[in-house]
Amino acid sequence: MQHLLSLRDLTPSQVQQILSRTAELKSQLKAGDRKPVLQGRVLTQVFEKPSLRTRVSFEAAIGQLGGYSIFLSGKEAGLEGRESTADVARVIGGYSDVIALRTFSQELIELFAEESGCHVINALSDASHPCQALTDIFTMQEAFGDVTGRTLTYVGDGNNVAVSLATICAQLDIHFVIAAPEGYQLKESFFDGLRKEYSSASLTQTTDPHAAVANADVIYTDVWASMGQESEKSAREKVFADYQCNAALLASAPSEARFLHCLPARRGLEVTDDVIDGPQSLAFPQAENRMHLAKGVLAWLLDV
Ligand code: CP
Ligand code: NVA
Repeated sequence: MQHLLSLRDLTPSQVQQILSRTAELKSQLKAGDRKPVLQGRVLTQVFEKPSLRTRVSFEAAIGQLGGYSIFLSGKEAGLEGRESTADVARVIGGYSDVIALRTFSQELIELFAEESGCHVINALSDASHPCQALTDIFTMQEAFGDVTGRTLTYVGDGNNVAVSLATICAQLDIHFVIAAPEGYQLKESFFDGLRKEYSSASLTQTTDPHAAVANADVIYTDVWASMGQESEKSAREKVFADYQCNAALLASAPSEARFLHCLPARRGLEVTDDVIDGPQSLAFPQAENRMHLAKGVLAWLLDV
């Protein structure tokens, strides 16, 4: 049974298959073609954390393809102790073709993959956000064509989004550069693992955001405090103050560099209005692409 738990589960060629299927389904929709290739299929989403893009894009995706979606909070599903997690997974699996989970722990998503008997998608965990990173590379492909040898520079917290971006860049021969303050960087052991698995991986980490963007084709940022880190918000605002994506930072990058943000954005913190709303920003086409990518993932998992 094929799942999307982490990008590490996919080969680079499977990543490309999802991106190609996404492109096909996006151009079919733009041409007015809404063939119900997922008619009768059921997607159940179980989320322990808030979501706008992921939840709505998956619901819209399966709806446009003729399928049906069900949404439950983790509490409603019984993940807070009403019954065992394995029993919840088995019961939902009996009603669904695909389960998408947004959780704190990656292990919970893995347990669903073992117990549910249906395809499981990681819709964000503390460890990774694969659907986001796939969307981001799809958006880069739309902007640049072939992205091999391009440079994606991530400025900010070494979080779940950064992990998935570093992984997909290593898989697809995109240079990945991250500027993060000491204590908030990605682990060197994580980079070593990627280098071992993907021999041509190009991964660089620095504390200097201006140096990091010098050769960037894409400048990317995310919130400084992720969901679950709300109590650290004000401490993090001080630590990350020099990592804001603003006009001065973009002036250190090539003028044709594009700006991406997974959203939600904390405007005035990690990004200024003039950058996210400016001519270099693709943040909102990127958000729309979450839906096209959701279709690509569903169609790929269900082999239609
Ligand atoms: N980018 C993203 O995953 O957004 P949501 O948290 O709104 O789903
Ligand atoms: N790193 C953020 C991403 C939100 C889409 C979080 O986990 O809250």
